[in-house]
Amino acid sequence: MITLPGLIDVHVHLRDMGQEHKEDFFSGTSAALAGGFTTVLDMPNNQLPITDYELLTKKQETAKLKIVSDVGFHFGSLGDNLDEFEKIKDKVWGLKLYLNQTTGGYIIDEDRLKKIYRKWHEVTEGKRPVLLHAEEDVMGIVTKVLQDTKHPTHICHISSIDEFTPIMKAKEKGLPITCGVCPHHLFLTVDDVEKLGSFGMMKPSLKTKKDQEFFWKHLEYIDLIESDHAPHAVEEKKSSNPPFGVPGLETTLPLLLTAVYEKRLKLQDIIDKCYENPRKIFHLPKQENTHIEISNIKYQISNSALHTKCGWSPFDGWEVRGKVMKVVLRGETVFENDKVLAQPGSGHVI
Ligand code: NCD
Ligand code: ZN
Ligand code: ZN
Repeated sequence: MITLPGLIDVHVHLRDMGQEHKEDFFSGTSAALAGGFTTVLDMPNNQLPITDYELLTKKQETAKLKIVSDVGFHFGSLGDNLDEFEKIKDKVWGLKLYLNQTTGGYIIDEDRLKKIYRKWHEVTEGKRPVLLHAEEDVMGIVTKVLQDTKHPTHICHISSIDEFTPIMKAKEKGLPITCGVCPHHLFLTVDDVEKLGSFGMMKPSLKTKKDQEFFWKHLEYIDLIESDHAPHAVEEKKSSNPPFGVPGLETTLPLLLTAVYEKRLKLQDIIDKCYENPRKIFHLPKQENTHIEISNIKYQISNSALHTKCGWSPFDGWEVRGKVMKVVLRGETVFENDKVLAQPGSGHVI
């Protein structure tokens, strides 16, 4: 049995307030605990995007009643809500902006991006990072804005060599840039889409073996691992116009621990990329008396055992080593024997 700190996932979509048929605060945070995560940060691309004080407050109030892990929030902007920044700056951990088309369609252009960056930088005094959904076609814009503002910027879910190399270069120049990679980009490639169909489709899309190997080779440039837990209902995925995104909270740690078992990764990498770095980058509070217990028993990931409401995973059937046996949050056992023991509302909104 190994003991680790309660892990942190800075990129999840819990869907509550509008799309509870995909996931809600209780089912999503149950999946978090089952996956060893005691803190998650929720994205703002809800049915109504979280771009004003009122909606953010309503979301936090809703969360308070339902969550079993701790949950923090990122704010959103389409460039028309700059006056809200002052009101919400101490209630969120980051500002999430979309430079490519993805679920929700809250895309912005270069002019808006600059305007938003300037205001956010001024209001937060450079303390709260901007998170970007920025695929390879827009990396040039990102580097320009970063050079201009020097505002801490986290590039979400990098998927290809062409996204990764400008980030590596920016890091070498000393710019305040960080990046995260998702387990699906570390463990799946475009070849898997043949079998998975729409259940293997997400933004950014799965790339080639060459891209994947490049990530494994340059892990030291990857600051953190984020699941981009993006649940959609099975019927939606099976439809003629399936939404993009895959769930990930319950499979991230088993996959990473399997890589440790196979000596492709060190346990310390998991601690750094799923705990230490997320905490540092987003200035997250420490959870006292909190840890998770892991066993390296062999088992199969199975859709039927998941806590996420969507009830499926692109890793269904995978044989893994590394199971969350117990989660202790602030001294209370909140998960054990595959069951969530915590009461809805016992998690903290941070
Ligand atoms: C995410 C979603 O469904 O909200 N989808 C995805 O394919 N990753 C949005 C996002 O993170 O881009
Ligand atoms: Zn995204
Ligand atoms: Zn996402």
